Amino acid sequence: MAFDIEMIKKVYAEMPAKVEQTRKQLGKPLTLTEKILYAHLADNLPTSAYERGNSYVNFNPDRVAMQDATAQMALLQFMQAGKSKAAVPSTVHADHLIQAKVGASTDLKTAEVSNKEVYDFLSSVSNRYGIGFWKPGAGIIHQVVLENYAFPGGMMIGTDSHTVNAGGLGMIAIGVGGADAVDVMAGMPWELKFPKLIGVKLTGKLNGWTAPKDIILKVAGILTVKGGTGCVVEYFGEGAKSLSCTGKGTICNMGAEIGATTSTFGYDESMERYLRATDRADVADAANSVKEHLTADPEVYANPEKYFDELIEINLDELEPHLNGPFTPDRATPISKMKEEAEKNGWPLKIEVGLIGSCTNSSYEDISRSASIAEQAAEKNLKAKGEFKITPGSEQVRYTIERDGLIDVFNKMGGEVFANACGPCIGMWARTGAEKQEKNTIVHSFNRNFAKRADGNPNTYAFVGSPELVTAMAIAGDLGFNPITDTLVNENGETVKLDEPTGYELPPQGFGVEDAGYQAPAEDGSDVEVVVNPESDRLQLLTPFAPWDGKNISNAKLLIKAKGKCTTDHISMAGPWLKFRGHLDNISNNMLIGGVNFFNDETNKVKSQLTGEYGEVPATQRGYKEAGIPTVVVGDHNYGEGSSREHAAMEPRHLGVRAVIVKSFARIHETNLKKQGMLGLTFANEADYDLVQEDDTFNFLDLDQFAPGKTLSVELVHADGSKDVITTNHTYNQQQIEWFKAGSALNLIKKQNA
Ligand code: F3S
Repeated sequence: MAFDIEMIKKVYAEMPAKVEQTRKQLGKPLTLTEKILYAHLADNLPTSAYERGNSYVNFNPDRVAMQDATAQMALLQFMQAGKSKAAVPSTVHADHLIQAKVGASTDLKTAEVSNKEVYDFLSSVSNRYGIGFWKPGAGIIHQVVLENYAFPGGMMIGTDSHTVNAGGLGMIAIGVGGADAVDVMAGMPWELKFPKLIGVKLTGKLNGWTAPKDIILKVAGILTVKGGTGCVVEYFGEGAKSLSCTGKGTICNMGAEIGATTSTFGYDESMERYLRATDRADVADAANSVKEHLTADPEVYANPEKYFDELIEINLDELEPHLNGPFTPDRATPISKMKEEAEKNGWPLKIEVGLIGSCTNSSYEDISRSASIAEQAAEKNLKAKGEFKITPGSEQVRYTIERDGLIDVFNKMGGEVFANACGPCIGMWARTGAEKQEKNTIVHSFNRNFAKRADGNPNTYAFVGSPELVTAMAIAGDLGFNPITDTLVNENGETVKLDEPTGYELPPQGFGVEDAGYQAPAEDGSDVEVVVNPESDRLQLLTPFAPWDGKNISNAKLLIKAKGKCTTDHISMAGPWLKFRGHLDNISNNMLIGGVNFFNDETNKVKSQLTGEYGEVPATQRGYKEAGIPTVVVGDHNYGEGSSREHAAMEPRHLGVRAVIVKSFARIHETNLKKQGMLGLTFANEADYDLVQEDDTFNFLDLDQFAPGKTLSVELVHADGSKDVITTNHTYNQQQIEWFKAGSALNLIKKQNA
């Protein structure tokens, strides 16, 4: 569907020379990850290898994908860049805002009404700027990307952590914040810390009840939720080649659950089959022409311990099906041990609901193997003890499985199909009775199982497994059930056993779809009007931030001196605020409400120097803004850690905070502040944090000489008239100083485009 074959051919045309040059320069054989990353450098090849886990490197990704929740602010910002089209092929996917309640068609209609203004905006802004729009009901971003856009050796970013799913088709695909998407769409390079590399060698072959999901559940058990941080996981070996392309996607998808930057597999026949089955024979042909560059050099996989920072080996012949959980995806339990573990830990044994599908496990293979189990329920006269729900990943999958009679099979066991959307995977599941918060167990084939994630009930014990295992468990209704060894009693009182799942890697009659739900952008979108209702409380067009007046900031008041941890969640809380993500002024009412005030140890209670009264942080800041008085935020160590949420930098900027001075920054947040035209500074002497008092006024003494590598002096005037002059450091380079001068990075781009 409108994938850009010319762009892909260009990547492949340049790849051999780039790989060869890199190999020469680095003087060693290359992993697949290195080939893809070095082939996408924004700058010239360095004279020596980048230091893994240390060097910050600029890249030019090939694509951008955005989901509807994060796309709103990203596109509102992109509109500020003054571009007529996104610089790289980009898509928006309406998948996160659909609530699963009574079934696909009703739920979809409800969402179309309740989210109308958001959908109208996303549709029109995409149409205008050359961005593909996948309408509500078209499917979940990562499944749609795998079916349509992912390509071996490509590099993409997406505004969702499970963007990594596209590694199943041999990409380096990375989840980012909206601001990063804006940069790439505006034609700016994108920065990433050069990752460390974890190699996972797969030997043997999956058999019986084991599925690709069990590989990543096992890896999660080994590496834990943090073990992949800052790393790319590269899978290889005979076992890897034996997996389907979509199975590889499942494994890469859940790389997010071990904190990995991304995961990937080398190009092989399973990928070629998938490309051809999804109507992309020309991509397969193009990939075949540069095959050897779309996998690691043979020496790497022959001696992996020499080339990876960490190596894991898994023998698929011996791998058991797993269920991971509850409450964390790295608590891995082989199915043979589940009964014992559940009893020991007091996990409710009765399974209430089994859910399959989502972006993680929606392939034809997943669904057909699950259906082979569901079919046995009817054949063997078994009545499913648990409820059963299916969330197809895309309309193409839904249409195909319906055409092939698989939905009928699920219906016979009492299954219910939800819309092709995130639904129960992201708490958008209006589950009957969840509000009673009863202790209960569910099993699903999604990726995350943190408390409240599926239905909002903190007492729902969610376990993650392969879709075929989930189907069997829903039939048995018992967490202690092991389909490999255990029997069930059917409606006639007979003892029966489930046979191993069987299925098809790809649909024997090919994929089908009537309306995939894709809206191609206008060829020339300059006349397209972007629809934003001025009365909307969810969307607001952005006004460019004012440029710097070239003067020292003086008479700025302290807004808050934050104590201890101040993450992006403290600065811009999520939860109920998510619905305002496209409305900067409304979401700014959560600014810093989670930060602890150093002077009273309370949150959201700071002193206004205008009135002497204590009030909420956003309201206090609005008071300063109205009076035209600049303010300063002071913080502790690692200020702004957490997500890459750009709102945490935009909100203070919008409300008139001029500078953030801290002991140290989380790097992404520091960059986000710079992009929004804020001053992000660190105390040269950390102890100066203690000098800052509640009624302080800040005077910048030499900001008019702002230059790279030059410290800035700030005078603190205390309430008693005494003064301290402190030195602050900054990491602005010349380009970033230009952002500051222009008022924001986007203002500068716009100026340059004019
Ligand atoms: Fe959606 Fe869940 Fe995937 S929220 S994108 S189905 S991880």
